Amino acid sequence: MEALAREASSREKLIVALDFPIVAEARAMVDALGDSVSFYKIGMELAYGGGLPFARELIGSGKEVFLDLKLHDIPTTVEKACANVARLGARYLTVHAYPQTMAAAARGAAGSGLKILGVTVLTSCDDDDLKEGGFAFGVEALVARRAGQALAAGIDGLILSAAELEPVRRIVGPDLILVTPGIRPAGAKVQDQKRPATPAAAIRAGAAHLVVGRPITQAEDPRAAAEAILKEIASV
Ligand code: C5P
Repeated sequence: MEALAREASSREKLIVALDFPIVAEARAMVDALGDSVSFYKIGMELAYGGGLPFARELIGSGKEVFLDLKLHDIPTTVEKACANVARLGARYLTVHAYPQTMAAAARGAAGSGLKILGVTVLTSCDDDDLKEGGFAFGVEALVARRAGQALAAGIDGLILSAAELEPVRRIVGPDLILVTPGIRPAGAKVQDQKRPATPAAAIRAGAAHLVVGRPITQAEDPRAAAEAILKEIASV
């Protein structure tokens, strides 16, 4: 009984990123993963290739869906977009962590099952990129500032690299949901992730969910790769 509950709790922590251009490829991956994976992330690429009806299909088949659409617009537009996404039945939706945008998203999702996650600073940006973009803060200070603003705006969680989990948890307290991409099992190819963490290290540092793409979707045996990660999560 306890082993089954542990298995379900590990499965809930793993979100597989369906970074594919077309639905047929995403569907083939979901079929290959079968009941080993219950939570999927659909990002901008697939969303613009039929990913939203596909999200509805996944939800209808009992899977959880995280829509990584990184919204940012005037507050009315963001609020109405979030209300519409809430009607799809997705569990998570990302918005850029600007105070107005986060507050509007929280209003749009209010009373629904949709939870809003803020993207603090894109991991592709360093201090020079922020300066070039007109910001007065470096990455670390801006992440900290936006974490505090996320709490004030009343959104549900944040997307963070593993290295940011502990400092941000100190700022936001115990309740915000922290979700971590950039996961690489020991020995896996790092690809373009700059500061990868192993599944066990990210869970230990306080991640509620791990977002894993290529280590599973490009593996020779995706199901075996997912099961190895689930085993590592369960071992923490
Ligand atoms: O293939 P890989 O495991 O690197 O995929 C990670 C996923 O997480 C991708 O969908 C990527 O867009 C997303 N992501 C990220 N870093 C962020 C936010 C999202 O890698 N800061």
